Amino acid sequence: MKKILSILNKKNKSKIVCLTAYTKSIAKLIDDYCDLVLVGDSLANVLYGMKNTHQISMDIMLNHAKSVRSGIKNSLLVVDMPKNSYKSPASAVKNAKYLIKKSKCEAVKIESNFKNSNIIKALVKSKIAVMGHIGFTPQFKKKFSVQGTNLKNKKKLILDAKKIEKAGAFSIVLECIKKDTAKKITKELKIPTIGIGSSNYCDGQVLVTEDLIGLSGFYPKFVKKYVDISKVIKKSVQKYRKEVISKKFPSKNNSY
Ligand code: KIV
Repeated sequence: MKKILSILNKKNKSKIVCLTAYTKSIAKLIDDYCDLVLVGDSLANVLYGMKNTHQISMDIMLNHAKSVRSGIKNSLLVVDMPKNSYKSPASAVKNAKYLIKKSKCEAVKIESNFKNSNIIKALVKSKIAVMGHIGFTPQFKKKFSVQGTNLKNKKKLILDAKKIEKAGAFSIVLECIKKDTAKKITKELKIPTIGIGSSNYCDGQVLVTEDLIGLSGFYPKFVKKYVDISKVIKKSVQKYRKEVISKKFPSKNNSY
């Protein structure tokens, strides 16, 4: 609760820093620099090479959540509920409780299909902290498109954001929403908005860590690649290969 309050308190004061992690090793590296770490179901694409997030299972999300939990000390740990795990209020509560109990995460995130704010209400009533997610919601969409580009869609998104806030979510991800729409949502909500591809009008930002470090091979306009770690990996592996073949590795130092 303390960590959630501290995130809520940042609204209009300082930006909220969020990143994804799927493993302990990445979690440990980013924990000191993030307010919130998300075990996103984007791991379906990034780690498992699936074409979308639709088939990722609760067991897979749980295993990664446990791994990330073991690397996190400071930041708030949020885990994505997989598609189909929150089809009804009852199944959402049952599955979220399971995910929280087994992974010891502090909150869950669910994507909006414009009709499921009642799910958030049921979760919050069961004392489960929930992060909403609107705009481009990969669990409910097949093809990428920027959201909030016309007046009708803009109004729909604003209304949905308000419903999610009223349902009790503690924050909301705005994914690939045009900046004027993201600005209006951020202004009208009391809870913080966390943007991904939705401009710096949002209260915080989230990125997939593998995109930021240049490991995912997926670099749309909204991603800033801060380092090209794949280059570093390739160079190291090339060197290793050369040394194995030339018998330079393992040396005496690497042998018992
Ligand atoms: O699955 C994910 O990683 C996400 C973020 C991109 C917000 O939902």
